[in-house]
Amino acid sequence: MSESITITDNRTGESFEIPIVDGGVDSTEWKKQLPGLWFLDPGFTTTASCTSSITDIKGDEGILRYRGYPIEQLAKDSTYLEVSYLLLHGELPDTTQYDQWVHDVTHHTYAHENFRRRFMDGFHFNAHPMGMLNSSLAAMSTYYPEAKEIEDPANRMLQMTRLIAKLPTLAAGAYRFSIGMPYVYPDNNLDFATNFMSMMFKVAEDTYECDPAITKALDVLFILHADHEQNCSTTTARTIGSAHADPYSAVSGAAAALYGPRHGGANEAVLNMLDEIGTYDQVDDFIEGVKRGERRLMGFGHRVYKNFDPRATIIKEAADAVFKVTGANPRLDIALKLEEAALNDEYFKSRKLYPNVDFYSGLIYQALGFPPEMFTVLFAIPRVTGWLAHWNEMLEQDSRIARPRQLYVGADVRDYVPMGNR
Ligand code: CMC
Repeated sequence: MSESITITDNRTGESFEIPIVDGGVDSTEWKKQLPGLWFLDPGFTTTASCTSSITDIKGDEGILRYRGYPIEQLAKDSTYLEVSYLLLHGELPDTTQYDQWVHDVTHHTYAHENFRRRFMDGFHFNAHPMGMLNSSLAAMSTYYPEAKEIEDPANRMLQMTRLIAKLPTLAAGAYRFSIGMPYVYPDNNLDFATNFMSMMFKVAEDTYECDPAITKALDVLFILHADHEQNCSTTTARTIGSAHADPYSAVSGAAAALYGPRHGGANEAVLNMLDEIGTYDQVDDFIEGVKRGERRLMGFGHRVYKNFDPRATIIKEAADAVFKVTGANPRLDIALKLEEAALNDEYFKSRKLYPNVDFYSGLIYQALGFPPEMFTVLFAIPRVTGWLAHWNEMLEQDSRIARPRQLYVGADVRDYVPMGNR
């Protein structure tokens, strides 16, 4: 069987054979045969923008693998920092590599004092922490001007380490600012997740202590959110990076994309939706409203997963573990009924809409004491690893600048009319 397709141009009757490369139609050959005939593909629903060896999603089967390792195994047996090493380097670390990586991340958690005091303190008192995070990431490029040396792999690794290490510090800093509490410095004796909880919630105790079941659940959430191939924010990171901007700028743009309610902002939107539904007996009315197209069921549906989102299954288990410690979130009953009603309804079944990663994550975050405005920030903390892994891969691939074409459908040429004659 030939790995190609044959296209007939009905305008001329000519036929062309276009090779299939890595499972996709080769656009260079297409362009050679049919120059100027662009694919019209808003939302990139049928366009592969790159090749990648980082994350493999098989949407119809509900499969998610990082560098070939099933997400279920990583969530059960690995740690977020081990997964971040895997995503960046392509292989699991040995003990020496892992210890060094943990040491490097732990020793880059501090933010410049001037940055923390002057830049972050300059925000308006009610600034959304996600807006603070985006701007902080962009501002950080001014603290590390050498980050522009993107050709140097060692320099790239240093900047990636800094970003992964500082994300929790910036995130917790944004939260402490929003509630008027003093910043908490990172504690090098704590693991990644506990350190983040400490920077969020420590008050006057010497060392912040957290139930291991809670930090394990948070670490699992970090693993699940670490990468998801060419989603909106990662594509943004690769696009900005393709112009050879520094990684802080690329990641700041990615975080801005994540902020949107169709993407990482969905977890906050789910909680707001559950609040709006209010009581168990309002669920059916709400579902009817969704079916009439009045609004979307947040936390449902996915561009790639059309059967189930494997992250949602793992998150439900993590939720059980957390609720054993914290007690059940009162909105859990509404969420469960909503899920059951939607899964049995023809509207959702026919459109292959299932709970996604965001449906239950917000309930866990809330039970852990995080306010809804922090939910997308919690998504950003581990996703920075994915953005950076893709940014680095793109630079190693010697990719071209991202510059799609458009199909112009506006007015044809016309003469300017002076204002008095219009
Ligand atoms: N509630 C109700 N209807 C929906 C929903 C929903 N959540 N999602 C899709 N639909 C309908 C949509 O109206 C359309 O129906 P029709 O064919 O009658 O016009 C059909 O399903 C296909 O939807 P689409 O908008 O073409 O699908 P998409 O692939 O462009 O959008 C999505 C994917 C995730 C943006 C969308 O499902 C959505 O808005 N979901 C709610 C927001 C959400 O939970 N986002 C988090 C995604 S997972 C985490 C992440 O990646 O950030």
